[in-house]
Amino acid sequence: MLNIALPKGRLGEKVYEMFEKAGYDCPSIHEKNRKLIFENKEKDICFFWVKPSDVNIYVERGAADIGVAGKDILLEYEPDVYELVDLDIGKCMMAEAARNGYIDQIQRTKRVATKFENIARNYYASIGRDIDIIHLNGSIELAPILGLSDVIVDIVETGTTLKENDLAVVEKIVDISARLIANKSSYEFKKAQINAIADALREQTEQRKEKA
Ligand code: PRP
Repeated sequence: MLNIALPKGRLGEKVYEMFEKAGYDCPSIHEKNRKLIFENKEKDICFFWVKPSDVNIYVERGAADIGVAGKDILLEYEPDVYELVDLDIGKCMMAEAARNGYIDQIQRTKRVATKFENIARNYYASIGRDIDIIHLNGSIELAPILGLSDVIVDIVETGTTLKENDLAVVEKIVDISARLIANKSSYEFKKAQINAIADALREQTEQRKEKA
C-alpha cells in the first residue's frame, strides 16, 4: 500500500482533487467526520491529512511514501526527500516586507521577524546583510508595526494582509508553490507506482498551464 500525506486545509483539498482526477480516488474522504486516514484497498493507496508543515517529516522518515508540501516548507526544513513535481498550485511568494516608506539603514543590523528562520538567514547571507532574527509563530505582520522588527520575511499570497496593515513588499525572495515529494527509499522500492502518480499529476499541471 502506498501512503500519501496530504496537507490539511484548502490546499490539501485541491491536491486531493488532482489525485482523484488522476484515478487515485478515495470516496470516503468526502464524508463529514474528523477521521485522518482514508484507504482505498482496491487502488492500494492510503491518504492521511497532516498539518502542512509536518508533511516533510512524515515523508522524510518514511511514515508516508509520498506527500505534498509547499516549497516554503522544503526550503525552510531542507528534508532529505526527492522533489518530483511542481504542482503549480498554492502559488505565493516569500518576501521581505516593511512599513510603507521604510528606508533600510545599511550600517545597522536589520531586525527581521519571521517564522521562516532558515530561509531568512540564507537570503540575507546571500546578499551579505547582517541581521538579527526574531522568531515568531504567527501574525508576523504585527512586528514592524509595534517596532519589534524593521522588516518581516513572510508569505505573501494576495497581498491583502500587508495592505490592510499598511505594510508593503520590499523585495521578493522566492516563488512558492506546492510540490510532490517522495521518501528516497520508497521511491526505489515503489518506483513504478510513484512515477505513475507523478506523471499523472504532471500531466494535469501542464494541461492547466496550456489553458491559462
Ligand atoms: C499567511 C502569511 C500572511 C498571509 C498572507 O498567514 O503569514 O499572514 O497568509 O496572505 P495574503 O497575502 O493573501 O494576505 P496564515 O494565514 O498562514 O497565518 P499565520 O499568521 O499563522 O502565518
